[in-house]
Amino acid sequence: MADTGKNNNYINKENITGSYPDHLAGIIDRNLLFYINSYKNLPALLKKSIMYSIKNGGKRFRPVLCLLTVSSLGGNYEDALPAACAIELIHTYSLIHDDLPSIDNDDFRRGKLTCHKVFGEDIAILTGDALFAEAFNIILKYQAGSPDIKIRLLEEIAHASGAEGMVAGQVIDVFYTAKKISKKLLEFMHDKKTAKLITASVRSGAIIGGAPENIMAKLTLYANCIGLAFQITDDILDIETTMEVSGKTAGKDAAQNKNTFPSMYGIKKSREIAGRKVKEAIDAISGIDIKKDSLINLAEFILKRKK
Ligand code: IPE
Ligand code: IPE
Ligand code: MG
Ligand code: MG
Ligand code: MG
Repeated sequence: MADTGKNNNYINKENITGSYPDHLAGIIDRNLLFYINSYKNLPALLKKSIMYSIKNGGKRFRPVLCLLTVSSLGGNYEDALPAACAIELIHTYSLIHDDLPSIDNDDFRRGKLTCHKVFGEDIAILTGDALFAEAFNIILKYQAGSPDIKIRLLEEIAHASGAEGMVAGQVIDVFYTAKKISKKLLEFMHDKKTAKLITASVRSGAIIGGAPENIMAKLTLYANCIGLAFQITDDILDIETTMEVSGKTAGKDAAQNKNTFPSMYGIKKSREIAGRKVKEAIDAISGIDIKKDSLINLAEFILKRKK
């Protein structure tokens, strides 16, 4: 087994910059550990690879967004912790698989060696598989609410992750690497691979918070827009940020001839498009009667983030 890397303090969000609800990210961290520690009958190696991938994790942007959506509707964010953590498990699985040699072939993630670098490709694939399935298990086991609410959450998250969601975007990403892509398909790819799960995070919070249809529609538009902006800024950061800050190898997209917003439009225009999308997101929720400040703040954070 390879060295697991020295940077064990990546959970420290100090490099994120801008105001970020760190306390909520911390609550997500603790709940994720609780869920994983509750599993007793699993091989020690799998527990180790899951813990490695979950601990000292990332920004927890998606689960934080889910919790903030519940609060914005006047609900108690604690009610959404299982669903929010389930979404983070799906996200973590997607990163483990995204980093595999046959996909993006990345050696570093969240300031540490990638899962396959430490545990091998076989265990990394299986760790991702386990996290994907356990996401649904956590909702079934721990999520409060009626069976109808649970089914709606499962539907939302499965749809966002599957063949018409994140995996669709990843397939387009891989297939079009080093090939010419249209502007329309590039946006479609970003929408699928990244915006769909971000949208499911907001919609899951809205389901738990009991949002009526008109508010659900506005929150969905908000989420679609910030989801696209989030991937555009990820593409910009790949060019502009160092490994020390982002925890990922810099300059990978260009080195691999990936289709990104900066490769299609240049950095300046990409930044403008991300800015427009964030404005569109904020406009979408401006007319609805919810406590929207924290959602506006999180949308603006996307443009300021450094990792
Ligand atoms: C990285 O997501 C992958 C994308 C979809 C852009 P994040 O930037 O949320 O990664 P972590 O979870 O904070 O590490
Ligand atoms: C990842 O996009 C999207 C996923 C669904 C995992 P990227 O490949 O750009 O994400 P990073 O840069 O590796 O985090
Ligand atoms: Mg990728
Ligand atoms: Mg990648
Ligand atoms: Mg990237």
